[in-house]
Amino acid sequence: MGEPRTTLVTGASRGIGAGIARLLLDRGGRVACTSRSGHSAVSEQAGGRTLPIALDLTDPAGPEHAVERVREHWGRLDSLVLNAGVWHGGRLSTMDPDLWWEVVRTNLGGTAALVRAATGLLTRGTEPSIVLVGSVVGEVGFAGDTAYAAGKAALVGFARSLAKELAPDGVRVNVLAPGFVETDMTSAVPDRSRQRIASATLLGRFGTVDEIARAAVFLADDATFCTGSVLTADGGWSL
Ligand SMILES: NC(=O)c1ccc[n+]([C@@H]2O[C@H](COP(=O)([O-])OP(=O)(O)OC[C@H]3O[C@@H](n4cnc5c(N)ncnc54)[C@H](OP(=O)(O)O)[C@@H]3O)[C@@H](O)[C@H]2O)c1
Repeated sequence: MGEPRTTLVTGASRGIGAGIARLLLDRGGRVACTSRSGHSAVSEQAGGRTLPIALDLTDPAGPEHAVERVREHWGRLDSLVLNAGVWHGGRLSTMDPDLWWEVVRTNLGGTAALVRAATGLLTRGTEPSIVLVGSVVGEVGFAGDTAYAAGKAALVGFARSLAKELAPDGVRVNVLAPGFVETDMTSAVPDRSRQRIASATLLGRFGTVDEIARAAVFLADDATFCTGSVLTADGGWSL
């Protein structure tokens, strides 16, 4: 038997990223789990199959350092799941421009920087793949979400171009676009918006962390004929 599949998951301290890391470990993989503090929600779960890494996507030196840790520790990387993200809402007319750019810079710029740092190691992996966690808000928009939606929509164009650049190296690149899931990120969403989203969702409920994790792992490991695609997992909200 070969070495276990090795994945780096960003934003694995909680929420959707922790769910993705747990599922990959359940499937026998090895997971490098990043968060700003380096805290990993799964470090107790699988002993030597997890590697907690402190990574702040707003730190220009962060991505190189994180990938170097994986290279030193395991010497390989098969899959990259770019899940970390931030949300700050506000209408364009009133939102602080610095905060507006911080959201785009973290969600798009930080993600691109990590891909750049990891590509060399990843192209030597087995059936290598990249999953970018976008958002259905990037597809359909949401009032008060211009910064978040702009960054998430841009990830789709980024992913499709990257899919073309990396196909000759055998790397698949796909986007997962979740709908509303109860996590720390959505805890501040006002009740009025929640009700609007729930009532517009065909399945009549929000998604769970586990459902989104299964979609992410499908794209990362199982969807071997998918590249440049966007998988929407929103219970039909965007239809
Ligand atoms: N929840 C939803 O309804 C929903 C819907 C669509 C898309 N998404 C997307 O799904 C992803 C995960 O969301 P979530 O709901 O699980 O959010 P969450 O509970 O707020 O978790 C966010 C994760 O990102 C990490 N993170 C935040 N800022 C970071 C930075 N500057 N550098 C590095 N890591 C950072 C956090 O780590 P620390 O704070 O511990 O450092 C945490 O692990 C995000 O990309 C989000 O946009 C979520």
